[in-house]
Amino acid sequence: MKPSGSLKIDTFSMRIGDIEGVELDRLHAHSLAVGWPHRAEDWQFLRESGEGFVALDEIGRVLGSAMWFAHGADFATVGMVITSPRLQTLGAGQWLMKRVFEKVAGRDLRLNATRAARRLYLSLDFQPEKTVYQCQGIARLQTTGRPANIRGDVRILDASDIPAIIALDAAGFGVRRAALIERLFAHSAGYGLFKDDTLTAFALCRPFGRGHVVGPVVAQSDADALAVVRPHVAEHSGSFLRIDTHMDSGEFAAFLSHSGMPVFDTVLTMSLGKRLTDFAVGGATAPVTYALASQTLG
Ligand SMILES: CC(C)(COP(=O)(O)OP(=O)(O)OC[C@H]1O[C@@H](n2cnc3c(N)ncnc32)[C@H](O)[C@@H]1OP(=O)(O)O)[C@@H](O)C(=O)NCCC(=O)NCCS
Repeated sequence: MKPSGSLKIDTFSMRIGDIEGVELDRLHAHSLAVGWPHRAEDWQFLRESGEGFVALDEIGRVLGSAMWFAHGADFATVGMVITSPRLQTLGAGQWLMKRVFEKVAGRDLRLNATRAARRLYLSLDFQPEKTVYQCQGIARLQTTGRPANIRGDVRILDASDIPAIIALDAAGFGVRRAALIERLFAHSAGYGLFKDDTLTAFALCRPFGRGHVVGPVVAQSDADALAVVRPHVAEHSGSFLRIDTHMDSGEFAAFLSHSGMPVFDTVLTMSLGKRLTDFAVGGATAPVTYALASQTLG
């Protein structure tokens, strides 16, 4: 008998599991299925930095994921929320997020939403905040040498600078995330701008996805941010570099597009609970986050 041209497959059930025990290759395949650039090593880093759930089918394939990264007692970021393409719009995203909510109850939440996920997060009462510009490409530095307007000394950061980096990051991000910064530092090269021996700006850069990512970057002005980002761009000239930033205009944004890293995509920072402005230090010289650690980590 000739086989039919169509086949109806029954829906199947999924079980929830801890992301901890899952093989990295399976997580890697899961994010590749939605076109994300994460390597197995990037998943490993995220797993060491946070917690998460996976949705598994009967034979242990990963069909969904959601992670959270707690900082202190009152705050967490949420990320790596992915459902397998064939399952999307069937409620799996909602289901995973509800499970995350049970774990982060009482915390203020922040995440960066792709266009595909906005409706999901709006339905969970997240509020839109700011656009994130994902800037990436083959880096090229237009001018070499030290620009004339740097106020202070730029040098490579070492482990003795970590407390100052944590403090500056906390001022920009709004929440102290000491353990994460220490872990990022261990995987990164870093440049700092010092004025009278005080760290006033820094930029970390680490391997990620298709090449390297610069972030976090915290500074008090565009000029200071450029002073610490420029050396990373010079070092990675000719290779793939990425920066995720809230800056849409000004010297910093212009520098990125002139350095081979135009805007590739945008996501939307969203909050549940305290808004970004509630965390802001305020004042003209307050440190500002010029680049995120990543979209997942914020
Ligand atoms: C974003 C994503 C996780 C959503 O997962 P999902 O399993 O499709 O989510 P759900 O089925 O639970 O849908 C949640 C809500 O979004 C709506 N929705 C989902 N996909 C939609 C689409 N393509 N168009 C319109 N609405 C959509 C659903 O109707 C539902 O709305 P409701 O609560 O008002 O009924 C999934 O699409 C995905 O993995 N995308 C690729 C990776 C990604 O962008 N992740 C987000 C990271 S921030």
